[in-house]
Amino acid sequence: MTVSIIQVENLHKSYLMGKEAVPALRGVTINVRQGEMLCLMGPSGSGKTTLLNLLGGLDEPGRGHITIDGKNIVSMKEEQLARLRLQKLGYIFQTFNLLNNFTAFENVEAPIVLAGKLRRRQRKERAALLMEQVGLADRMDHYPSELSGGQQQRVAIARALANDPPIIIGDEMTGDLDSQTGFEVMRLVRRLNQEQGKTVIFVTHDPRMADFADRIINLLDGVIDSEEVRNGG
Ligand SMILES: Nc1ncnc2c1ncn2[C@@H]1O[C@H](COP(=O)(O)OP(=O)(O)OP(=O)(O)O)[C@@H](O)[C@H]1O
Ligand SMILES: [Mg+2]
Repeated sequence: MTVSIIQVENLHKSYLMGKEAVPALRGVTINVRQGEMLCLMGPSGSGKTTLLNLLGGLDEPGRGHITIDGKNIVSMKEEQLARLRLQKLGYIFQTFNLLNNFTAFENVEAPIVLAGKLRRRQRKERAALLMEQVGLADRMDHYPSELSGGQQQRVAIARALANDPPIIIGDEMTGDLDSQTGFEVMRLVRRLNQEQGKTVIFVTHDPRMADFADRIINLLDGVIDSEEVRNGG
């Protein structure tokens, strides 16, 4: 039996530009199964980032439902939503978004501090383990400016994993990397998906990166245009 971890139902979102409502999503329904690696594609402006932002509770839909792990996030209060984000979702962005005044290690440690569940020693051990998992055990004390783009993105991946969230969300996470480095990052994310059972939802414009997914959903003008199942998934 397949268990769905995210359910999106008839999602609508418009942005207000002056007095005019610009539609970004116009009725999107998606079930993401636990452990799935799902890719969203589609032309610029088709609504991919809007959808990811709604999934992450970073913005509110105009209409529709979003359920994560059985919980309706649309009706959640800000505090509850913040906790859900910290525990259930790990974000990876195109431009890494690391804190420049923090070392790589401290960037990974920060969300663990925020979650407030581990004591100092366990927290340090966890951050060190994550740095090791992304192949950066020898770069812990480097600042982001002292790392390559690919290394920075691997720090961002370790940070996304800090509180062991079941879901990873990536918006063009290889967009700023050369293709060789992009492949390495995708292989790492795929490994986390296969070995740790992480559910991954990622956006890319690059069909070679989309090849890593179990399923590809193509958005067009705010609706699902087509869907393709890959990897026998
Ligand atoms: N903050 C905003 N205010 C007004 N309109 C917005 C805003 N964000 C997005 N839009 C509009 O919503 C639509 C969807 O935008 P979105 O950013 O989701 O597209 P995208 O698929 O992620 O595109 P890209 O591939 O360029 O990142 C576009 O028409 C865009 O102009
Ligand atoms: Mg986008």
